Amino acid sequence: MKRVTIPKAGDSGVLILEECPDLHPGPGEVRIAVKAAGINFADIMARQGLYQDAPAFPFTAGYEVSGVIDEIGEGVEPWLKGKSVFALSRFGGHASQVVVPQSQVFEKPDSLSFEQAAAIPVNYLTAWQAIIVCGALQPEDTVLIHNVGGGVGLAALDIAQHIGAKTIGTASPGKHDYLKARGLNHAIDYRNNDWFSELMQLTGGKGAELILDPLGGESWRKSYKALRSPGRLAMFGISVASGHGLAGKLALAKTALLMPFFHPISLMNQNKSVFGINMGRLWHEPQKIRVWVDKLMVGLEEGWVNPTVAKAFRLEDAAEAHDYIESRANIGKVVLTV
Ligand SMILES: NC(=O)c1ccc[n+]([C@@H]2O[C@H](COP(=O)([O-])OP(=O)(O)OC[C@H]3O[C@@H](n4cnc5c(N)ncnc54)[C@H](OP(=O)(O)O)[C@@H]3O)[C@@H](O)[C@H]2O)c1
Repeated sequence: MKRVTIPKAGDSGVLILEECPDLHPGPGEVRIAVKAAGINFADIMARQGLYQDAPAFPFTAGYEVSGVIDEIGEGVEPWLKGKSVFALSRFGGHASQVVVPQSQVFEKPDSLSFEQAAAIPVNYLTAWQAIIVCGALQPEDTVLIHNVGGGVGLAALDIAQHIGAKTIGTASPGKHDYLKARGLNHAIDYRNNDWFSELMQLTGGKGAELILDPLGGESWRKSYKALRSPGRLAMFGISVASGHGLAGKLALAKTALLMPFFHPISLMNQNKSVFGINMGRLWHEPQKIRVWVDKLMVGLEEGWVNPTVAKAFRLEDAAEAHDYIESRANIGKVVLTV
């Protein structure tokens, strides 16, 4: 088998493609011959040495794959062998084979390509938790989705549009035409303008009922301030800390220093809620995840879940794929294909 290994922290140049012995599933596990693997922003930050949940170097990143089950472990239902699936993997996804517990595997609908299927798990489950499970978005609400052109961003837009809420999103200006064509009500160029005043203008000074903020640090303070009352803030990433070497470490320190603290009495008096999401720490809840995936599969059938692949790169070109994401060029999901 082949895998993309991150031997040490650094820029995309550190990535190496390795040949290594085939994997074999243990009891309750399956082996997937990978066709496509999603790259998440967490993988970029793991390579930069800034992701606290990453294993020690060297390791292979990758939280999600699609492919065909070609070997099953003891106790696994035999009909699964030969099935086309998508799956959550706890690292190791950027490879030609992965072994995962059967509980983390979902049958791939025929209507989806392998690339699209690899774009579902992390992005859509994160967005589902943010918009539906914790965010409780209502049709009469306004939602602000930061980085709406990214993987999680477009997934959140799909779900928010299905609810019928008013959608406002921040994104680099080159993505705005696409986002508006996809139905986003208002796109804000947060790179060149102050998104806060634009949001206030768009909402008659009231703010948004729900804000999805994966930027972290000072941005969480500003997003909290931009909540309508009652309002809810989803915190699920620290993209502002992204960077290499010393610059990355300094950005991480600054992000940590500028993080807000929320006092329960202030939350109560302001009718505001805050919540966090870390999909990488939900491995103990496979049944809940399955319920969410089932609901997303209904959305796929009904046409309101539209997994969007920005670009597919070969496993051999993983460094290019990382650069593509870091350059902010992607609209939707970047995947590696085997
Ligand atoms: N906690 C969880 O369970 C969880 C799960 C999934 C994702 N996340 C978080 O959600 C965020 C989005 O993840 P994703 O995988 O969907 O990635 P993504 O949005 O596809 O990531 C790339 C986009 O992020 C924006 N961005 C913001 N700051 C950036 C920076 N410093 N460098 C490069 N791009 C930056 C850029 O879009 P614009 O310039 O257009 O804004 C870029 O195109 C990340 O913070 C990630 O860690 C968290």
